[in-house]
Amino acid sequence: MSDTYVSLVNGGLGRSVATKLGLPRPGVLRRHTPDAPLAPGPVLVLGTPASTEADAVAQLLLSADGGSDLDVRRAAAGDATRWGAVVVVLSDVVHPSDLAAPMLELSGVLRSLAPGGRVVTISRAAAASDSPAVAAARQGVDGILRSLAKELRAGSTANGIVLSDGADLGAPSVLAALRFFLSPRSAFVDGQLLTVSSTAGTAPASWDRPLDGRVAVVTGAARGIGAAIARTLARDGARVVVVDVPAAGESLAAVANEIRGTALQLDITAADAGATIIDHAVSRHGGLDVVVHNAGITRDKLLANMTPALWESVLAVNISAQLAINEALLASPAFTHAPRIVSLASTSGIAGNRGQTNYAASKGGVIGMVRATGPLLADVDGTANAVAPGFIETEMTSRIPFATREVARRLNSLQQAGLPVDVAEAVAFLASPAAGGINGTVLRVCGQNLVGA
Ligand code: NAI
Repeated sequence: MSDTYVSLVNGGLGRSVATKLGLPRPGVLRRHTPDAPLAPGPVLVLGTPASTEADAVAQLLLSADGGSDLDVRRAAAGDATRWGAVVVVLSDVVHPSDLAAPMLELSGVLRSLAPGGRVVTISRAAAASDSPAVAAARQGVDGILRSLAKELRAGSTANGIVLSDGADLGAPSVLAALRFFLSPRSAFVDGQLLTVSSTAGTAPASWDRPLDGRVAVVTGAARGIGAAIARTLARDGARVVVVDVPAAGESLAAVANEIRGTALQLDITAADAGATIIDHAVSRHGGLDVVVHNAGITRDKLLANMTPALWESVLAVNISAQLAINEALLASPAFTHAPRIVSLASTSGIAGNRGQTNYAASKGGVIGMVRATGPLLADVDGTANAVAPGFIETEMTSRIPFATREVARRLNSLQQAGLPVDVAEAVAFLASPAAGGINGTVLRVCGQNLVGA
């Protein structure tokens, strides 16, 4: 499951051979380690000339809440600084011509971006009520961001935060999203625009343990992405219930022991699965705050060869079970303290994939489900969001024939597959109390997969 090509082309000889032959040279991704800094160098905050919003963002990053360990600057000094990140504040653009000054300033520092560096834009959503010029400027930011992400190299990424009408720069989720995008936790998130739609959410007492005191349930946690999610939520402070089918009981128990959580053997398609999950979490841990719907199956077949069993089993596990469990959660008084639902979608549910009409129906379904469920939780400061992984190194993808796998791995801006932990980091971010202003949306963890990006 390892990607030897990435190590090869980052070694001395391999690098020069790859360069001579014009082969892809994926960079080494900067991933989370306990004492790693938020950014691999100083953070430059750019904006339109005389932008007060850029000043506000710089102050936010310098505040105790924002990460006082950061070296934040408002101007490039013209020296040999290797920038850890550049934050481009474009929330006040009202005409496409306003984009020129900050983008050309960014152009001047891009070659000084450290490996694993970050570019993060902050902008406002284009709305139907905007004047054509305002809408053009705002929508233009999306085009810039998606193009720039395709240009960056050496494991650097570009992502954007978009404020919709209900949010402002002071919303806790703006700072939380900014920290997530700057940090190694977003290693495989690239070319994405994440909308902050409200001022809900609270900054944690500790950014290292944002889930302290929270109880989380992760389905399909005996292996793969689910096990990585359970470990990451536990690392971030949560007490975790891991759920999987009885046949996976042994590995499920091993994951539970490793993270000092509890194991619940359960087929999530059981009619009383929701009640069983709530009862277990409340009786063993005193509450339930986060549910991660990760369990999922594939039964690929061209539609022309599809059978009822293949269609129905995928829909039953991947979407119907989630809908039924959510109904129980929404009706439960236990699930009312700023609860979080995070569901695993897939890029197949966005862009489609040959042989996966059943799977894409379920994963597209997940996206529709969180969009409709989010507002139902807003009264209790709750959220429902989805994470859509692209190509991730797991047992499932290691079974793909070598040549197909090799092509699929490189078809994204980071030219490599993600790891289960990359998906887990995005889930943990959306599950955190500070992400309360991000609701009903989908965050892709796909390295800006070229398919449907
Ligand atoms: P996996 O097959 O390694 O693990 C899935 C787990 O879910 C297994 O432990 C399985 O026993 C459990 N499970 C299946 N049916 C269940 C049921 N009825 N009740 C309880 N548990 C059940 O899968 P992987 O690769 O870790 O994927 C996890 C999630 O991420 C899935 O929803 C998948 O669709 C999604 N995903 C994975 C991608 C990848 O590249 N691996 C890409 C996009 C999405």
